[in-house]
Amino acid sequence: MQNDIERVLVSEEEILNKCKELGATLAAEYDGKFPLAVGVLKGAMPFMSDILRYMDCHVEMDFMDVSSYGNEMRSSGEVKIVKDLNTQVEGRDLLIIEDIIDSGLTLSYLVDLFKYRKAKSIKIVTLLDKPEGRTTDIKADLVGFNVPNEFVVGYGLDYKEMYRNLPYIGVLKPEVYSGE
Ligand code: PRP
Ligand code: MN
Ligand code: MG
Repeated sequence: MQNDIERVLVSEEEILNKCKELGATLAAEYDGKFPLAVGVLKGAMPFMSDILRYMDCHVEMDFMDVSSYGNEMRSSGEVKIVKDLNTQVEGRDLLIIEDIIDSGLTLSYLVDLFKYRKAKSIKIVTLLDKPEGRTTDIKADLVGFNVPNEFVVGYGLDYKEMYRNLPYIGVLKPEVYSGE
């Protein structure tokens, strides 16, 4: 699997250090509160696990599975709820956890949904931000790393459901997806 990677963009160590830093920041912001952390499946899974481990405050966890990419390299433009939350959102402080913001469609859909459900507050933390991909005006409150406009995989991010289990963020060799 690692043979398919052209270069590493963010190393395992950089990711973990960033999780500690972001976790500490969030713990201070939510001190005395009981936020609901919403992990956006599937991509956010490793990041959610690591960042919450370094967030020293009470937090409830839930998951939302939405998909806009399917097996494609480009967003379909349509966000589909595959699995909804089990938790009531009204009056809660929400922390949405994402692996990457690209067009911003996934998050603008979720933010609208959670506003409609009357969340008390909504914060977004994303490990990666790809500002050049943006077609909406969504912005994260906390960003781990900016990445260039390339197709990145690893640490939750997939290509055709593969590479999510890489411990770092990397760029695929072009021959891996040539013909797409
Ligand atoms: C990817 C990624 C983000 C979203 C970002 O998810 O994990 O959730 O796309 O793109 P956007 O800003 O253009 O909406 P995907 O839909 O591929 O589902 P996955 O997390 O299950 O891979
Ligand atoms: Mn995702
Ligand atoms: Mg995907």
